[in-house]
Amino acid sequence: MNVLGIETTCDETAAAVVAPGENGRGRILSNEVLSQIAEHAAYGGVVPEIAARAHVEVLDRLIDRAVSGAGLTLAQVDGIAVAAGPGLIGGVLIGLVTAKTLALVTRKPLIAVNHLEAHALTARLTDGIGFPYLLLLASGGHTQLVAVKGVGEYVRLGTTIDDAIGEAFDKVAKLLGLGYPGGPEVERMAETGDPERFALPRPMLGRREANFSLSGLKTALRIEAEKLAPLSSVDVADLCASFQAAVVDVVVDRLRVAMRDFATVAGHPTALVAAGGVAANGAIRRALTTQAGEAGLAFVAPPLALCGDNGAMIAWAGIERLRLGLVDDLTAPARARWPFAEPAAIA
Ligand code: KG4
Ligand code: ZN
Repeated sequence: MNVLGIETTCDETAAAVVAPGENGRGRILSNEVLSQIAEHAAYGGVVPEIAARAHVEVLDRLIDRAVSGAGLTLAQVDGIAVAAGPGLIGGVLIGLVTAKTLALVTRKPLIAVNHLEAHALTARLTDGIGFPYLLLLASGGHTQLVAVKGVGEYVRLGTTIDDAIGEAFDKVAKLLGLGYPGGPEVERMAETGDPERFALPRPMLGRREANFSLSGLKTALRIEAEKLAPLSSVDVADLCASFQAAVVDVVVDRLRVAMRDFATVAGHPTALVAAGGVAANGAIRRALTTQAGEAGLAFVAPPLALCGDNGAMIAWAGIERLRLGLVDDLTAPARARWPFAEPAAIA
């Protein structure tokens, strides 16, 4: 079973072909990603109209490369999976209309995949882990703690009440004059910084529900930066290190709460899983590795190339759904907003 995956919800245009592999894992036959970062960098963030136009320009060639790179023709593909949201609607429409057209002319099943679900299932593609597992999904637009009980069975244990973690990294980078996307830049600066120089707040620490709040942390950092302006490179490094340390403390504390609530909704997890662009952060990965070890759990995070947006995760989610007969027809809608997890009912 070879499934083509198409991803156009944000600022990467991506296409990949994945097949089921050994030990429950997936086998990535091709994985083409074209980042638009250079086209958005001047604006300090993704410009939806620029993103949509850039997807149109490259998507057909990228699909061609993914299919031929897998050693196949379109006729040999068994399903066409596409991220139908959530995301920037112009880009989502381009991917979805392309996928529908391919499904129509090749008479292959169409699988309209939730982008967040694809991030959530990536640990099965890479490591073949079983259900249920505890997921930290953290990207530029989302921060959620989720009990992943099965394909299509997701219970949300916590979320952010304001900024997403990646968004907070991006905003901090912007206010410190670093490049976009901010996460990797802040992490790089933090390497040489002193994480204890600034006593930044740890919002939500000790709270009963596993929710996040990051805007107060970002504001506290801005106040420190304004007091010091103009900033030396040492100041910037220390601010980045202090910010990242605060984020790590918050993530570890919120995960502790989520682990407790997980038992109520899903029993004993097979693993602690991180996904989404923020899962590329080394400090967060190290902290989660330690925390999972202390809880007697395996820690699974995708390799860096599969943390950010990619087509392989869409293709894999397509395989997971196709195996269960969960296919879509040509009326599948493009969705700017598309919650994938049900909120947990925990007292
Ligand atoms: O999943 P993703 O590629 O796109 C979506 O938002 O769906 O995630 C991108 C986000 C950006 O906010 C970026 O700054 C953040 O992930 N990110 C990081 C790191 N690498 C990417 N945040 C912290 N540390 C990193 N190393
Ligand atoms: Zn994403």
